[in-house]
Amino acid sequence: MSMTDEAPRLIERPLAAGGASPEQETPAPATERDVVFESRDVNVYYGIFRAVRDVTFTVPKNEIMALIGPSGCGKSTVLRCYNRMNDLIKDARVTGSITYRGTDLYDERVDPVEVRRRIGMVFQKPNPFPKSIYDNVSYGPRVAGQKKGLDDIVERSLRKAALWDEVSDRLKDSALSLSGGQQQRLCIARAIAVDPDVLLMDEPCSALDPIATARIEDLMQEIKQDYTIMIVTHNMQQAARVSDTTAFLTADIHSENDTRTGILVEVDTTQKMFSNPSDERTENYVTGRFG
Ligand SMILES: Nc1ncnc2c1ncn2[C@@H]1O[C@H](COP(=O)(O)OP(=O)(O)OP(=O)(O)O)[C@@H](O)[C@H]1O
Ligand SMILES: [Mg+2]
Repeated sequence: MSMTDEAPRLIERPLAAGGASPEQETPAPATERDVVFESRDVNVYYGIFRAVRDVTFTVPKNEIMALIGPSGCGKSTVLRCYNRMNDLIKDARVTGSITYRGTDLYDERVDPVEVRRRIGMVFQKPNPFPKSIYDNVSYGPRVAGQKKGLDDIVERSLRKAALWDEVSDRLKDSALSLSGGQQQRLCIARAIAVDPDVLLMDEPCSALDPIATARIEDLMQEIKQDYTIMIVTHNMQQAARVSDTTAFLTADIHSENDTRTGILVEVDTTQKMFSNPSDERTENYVTGRFG
């Protein structure tokens, strides 16, 4: 990871969600403003096993990027690099560089807890805390020291997550009493409550029925005006429906030692990836001939 002489902006100059701080004197050039993440030659190792190699792409602001590819190619591994969740995995090591709004995300002066507040994550399996609906949503702001205005935050977050109408009269009920689709929207509300800038979603709909899935997809379209979203999905229709850009990863198989390393095959607009991709491997995958 490269070090800069200046302290990283992520800790020195807090950014308001979705935009630059008011005290910023000269606006960043459009190219910098419009890009949220830039990854270059990212490799992830688990011990000596290289799970993914040389991943380079750019994530534009207020867009939805889908990560697709066969099981085991490293989609979750790549996604976890963007909020330093791999830091929490023993033996995991990330090399290369990832910048977030121009700041090296892996600079040693960057606080990973702050990174995870700004860059929230929603997992495949809804994971509400065994607490009330209210306490789930207010948890993040409360841990951050906020005491006032929690009712408003809870209502706003639940409305954004399209769950308010279903739970407004039962906020003190256990989150575990909700259906799977409701629990997933609750987890999205919980992620939104801390006012993040980016949402990383790892197969958020894989345990949901088509109706709950459609609600989450609608929700993603609505909230992308405020957030930038990266979603891992095995559902090709979903990637085609919701995303603006798509990255296709696959596993490069090393026959000599029977290991596989995830590689990025191509990244492009979703329309192009699904209609006229540049690489034959992408075409085979999106048309269902492989994987
Ligand atoms: N915590 C871990 N420790 C060791 N190896 C891991 C760990 N997590 C993932 N791997 C390995 O890294 C590779 C990529 O796994 P990853 O979970 O990122 O794939 P994926 O594309 O998300 O797969 P799926 O579609 O099945 O979720 C696999 O070979 C996997 O076994
Ligand atoms: Mg995965």
